Amino acid sequence: MKLQTSLVMVLLSTHCASGAAYSYPRAQNVTWSSTNFKTILSWGPRPSANYSYTVEFFVAGGDRRRNHHCIRSNATMCDLSISLTEIKSCYSADVLSEPPLGTTSDDIEFPHSTSPTFCPYRDTQIGSPTFNLTVHEDKRTVTLHVTDPLTAVFKDDHQLSIRDIFSDELQYKVSYQKQQSTGSKIQTFSSRVIEITNLDRGESYCFKIQAHIPSRSENQFGQLSETKCSHNDEEPVLKVYSPAVIAGGILFILLVVGLITAITVIYCSQKRKALKSGTEGCPLRDV
Ligand SMILES: *[C@@H]1O[C@H](CO)[C@@H](O)[C@H](O)[C@H]1NC(C)=O
Ligand SMILES: *[C@@H]1O[C@H](CO)[C@@H](O)[C@H](O)[C@H]1NC(C)=O
Ligand SMILES: *[C@@H]1O[C@H](CO)[C@@H](O)[C@H](O)[C@H]1NC(C)=O
Ligand SMILES: *[C@@H]1O[C@H](CO)[C@@H](O)[C@H](O)[C@H]1NC(C)=O
Repeated sequence: MKLQTSLVMVLLSTHCASGAAYSYPRAQNVTWSSTNFKTILSWGPRPSANYSYTVEFFVAGGDRRRNHHCIRSNATMCDLSISLTEIKSCYSADVLSEPPLGTTSDDIEFPHSTSPTFCPYRDTQIGSPTFNLTVHEDKRTVTLHVTDPLTAVFKDDHQLSIRDIFSDELQYKVSYQKQQSTGSKIQTFSSRVIEITNLDRGESYCFKIQAHIPSRSENQFGQLSETKCSHNDEEPVLKVYSPAVIAGGILFILLVVGLITAITVIYCSQKRKALKSGTEGCPLRDV
């Protein structure tokens, strides 16, 4: 009898446990990733059909808010770009494990995991800028036109660039070098129209650019642009082509000349043979 009651107790308690909210797995590895203020919260594991995730985000001490795309969802990420409207504030987010969409539960509290704090203005990565380049008449100056990367922030239906947001705090760091050299020079500019002067005439230079926000303590540098080179069309042949290419060219010419000589020699000697046999053959036919 005693055994039976304890068995019932055990069964009851396991039943209760499986029905309780705490049977839903807690979200793990809640992380932020953000570039140009496009900000994604992600976590794991993928939910089974029995449960879903809801995201609540808040500024410390402020109200909890939700993004309607991230309520009782089976996704393991949530795009909060347009939700984090106070870009100079710091946000945290809770990922709650809740019953699936369309079901109800008596539970009021669900297991949750809290993200690290994220401060958009300070933490978002700056993406790679694009630029074009023009060489001046004097061949010693190059102008770079940088396009300020656009952000996921809108103001009055207008998409803001990183310049709109960081204004004077934004600089561009330019690294450049002669095309066939390894030593690079670095200069920083506050404008997006950049003049590089005192270049060596007749040399090609390669440039790459990244945003630089010196006021930040971390993530000061943005992602690197692709490398673009100036082309100098006045370069003498010897500079444009490497010694290997020139040697290859000479070798090729020698080969062709050799081949022609060989063919001529063989052709002539055979013709001579034919002539000889011809003079010997003719009298025989006459007989
Ligand atoms: C969380 O991160 C750890 C270590 O990177 C990894 O082993 C684990 O599988 C991750 N969990 C989920 C649910 O992604
Ligand atoms: C989820 O549902 C499946 C069957 O649909 C069941 O086997 C499993 O135990 C449930 N898991 C939880 C945590 O409730
Ligand atoms: C996730 O939910 C959507 C509907 O919200 C559904 O169409 C989809 O099949 C679900 N995916 C999984 C893996 O359960
Ligand atoms: C370079 O970009 C600027 C705008 O950023 C544009 O005005 C200019 O025409 C472009 N120049 C070339 C050569 O494409």
